[in-house]
Amino acid sequence: MTSGEARPTRMAQIAPSILTADFGHLAQQIADADAGGADLWHLDVMDGHFVPPLSFGKEVIAAVRAASPRFIEAHLMVERPGEQFADMAHAGAQRLIFHYEAAGSAEAARDLARQARELGCEVGIAINPETPIDALYPLLDALDEVVVMLIRPGWGGQQANLDLLDKVRVLHARLAAEGIAMPINVDGGVKTNNARTCAEAGATILVTGSAVFNAEQTPQSALAALHAVLAK
Ligand code: DX5
Ligand code: ZN
Repeated sequence: MTSGEARPTRMAQIAPSILTADFGHLAQQIADADAGGADLWHLDVMDGHFVPPLSFGKEVIAAVRAASPRFIEAHLMVERPGEQFADMAHAGAQRLIFHYEAAGSAEAARDLARQARELGCEVGIAINPETPIDALYPLLDALDEVVVMLIRPGWGGQQANLDLLDKVRVLHARLAAEGIAMPINVDGGVKTNNARTCAEAGATILVTGSAVFNAEQTPQSALAALHAVLAK
């Protein structure tokens, strides 16, 4: 099953982000989320420049690769994504997501997408809240996924701005009109109380960080709650 095909029983796939996981017990957290029904992994790489925080690099990608058979997408919140592609691919990332804002233009983004695919990876592009969805229209043929940020990138645990789902609705209609089958991913602030709304807007992959990894519940029970609200 590719990462873009939601399981028939659910409206969308769930892609846990480990940003708020317990890194002192990461292998166990991965195993718990695997057991709980994570569909794929969304791993957030931050360079402290494109976004203020630093997160982790290829070593953590490799650790997740070793701990789980699930598909891995690396969300590169970095100023020069092309410089990270090879390391991330070799560490086990199967889809490389860079930011449109880091590329700076459709032409530069198209070249980055080509570089990622030349490494044998799928390629996704993420857009920040301030970037209009139509900036991606000239690129849709060169991409395998679009990631619509519902928060300002850099931190887990934020409140999603659901007004930004209008970008998902518009893109969903555009892809249908152009006959393009591509997963639309929403990232940031997705919880059980808005997951179905995100899926109804057309999102087929929901990134869930603090909704899955938090002090209040196990990853298994958190994922069960998300599965329940996404049931068809
Ligand atoms: C933030 C990351 C997100 C984040 C999601 O910059 O791109 O993937 O970890 O975490 P939650 O679901 O807690 O917003
Ligand atoms: Zn992310």
